[in-house]
Amino acid sequence: MFITFEGGEGAGKSIQASLLKDFFISSGIDAILTREPGGTLFAEEIRKTLLTGEPEKIPPLTEALMYLAARADHWERRIKPALNAGKVVISDRFHDSSIVYQGFCKGVDINVLNTVYSSITNDNMPDRTYLIDIEPEIGLARSLARNNSETRFEKMDISFHRKVREAFLDLSRKYADRYLVLDGSLPISEVQKLIRADLSDFLRSS
Ligand code: TYD
Repeated sequence: MFITFEGGEGAGKSIQASLLKDFFISSGIDAILTREPGGTLFAEEIRKTLLTGEPEKIPPLTEALMYLAARADHWERRIKPALNAGKVVISDRFHDSSIVYQGFCKGVDINVLNTVYSSITNDNMPDRTYLIDIEPEIGLARSLARNNSETRFEKMDISFHRKVREAFLDLSRKYADRYLVLDGSLPISEVQKLIRADLSDFLRSS
């Protein structure tokens, strides 16, 4: 099973993904937690370039191709082998982030993004995607309070982050069969409970 977490900055994806992985492991199910951009040595190198410096540092199409290059390595060397070995793979962000950030918000042709994606993954899609939705003002404040150096996207203005939120909500409606939207202002344990309940429904029905 392939599970992804999506959402704007500071929504709480990472903590939810990590709690979910712990839950699988403690239930005796082999699971890995990974992230994008990143997840392999090469992709983590690309991550550093993508997430540091000024917003205008990398033009949109170049940026999109870098995310896709990182994704190709991540898919080939980490995700595909783990899925083939029967593990549950949980990724903190995946291709939907490229559709939203580079496609909807920075104007890169979504057909180009999806064509490259298809050839990377042979059209494999996540089984479940959890969108943690939060007011951009709250998410950004949380994210900046973390005090890390990966702030290239946090430096975009609030209207960009509002667009990100709307674009994710649009995607969740378009792919309603695999998406569940969760309210990121709820307590962490509440959100986790909803995710686990959803997964048990999903497993029962598949
Ligand atoms: P991340 O650490 O996931 O963000 P946060 O934890 O603050 O939500 O950082 C990833 C950043 O990269 C985030 O700003 C979204 C952006 N991104 C894209 O623009 N396109 C992509 O394809 C991916 C995977 C991420």
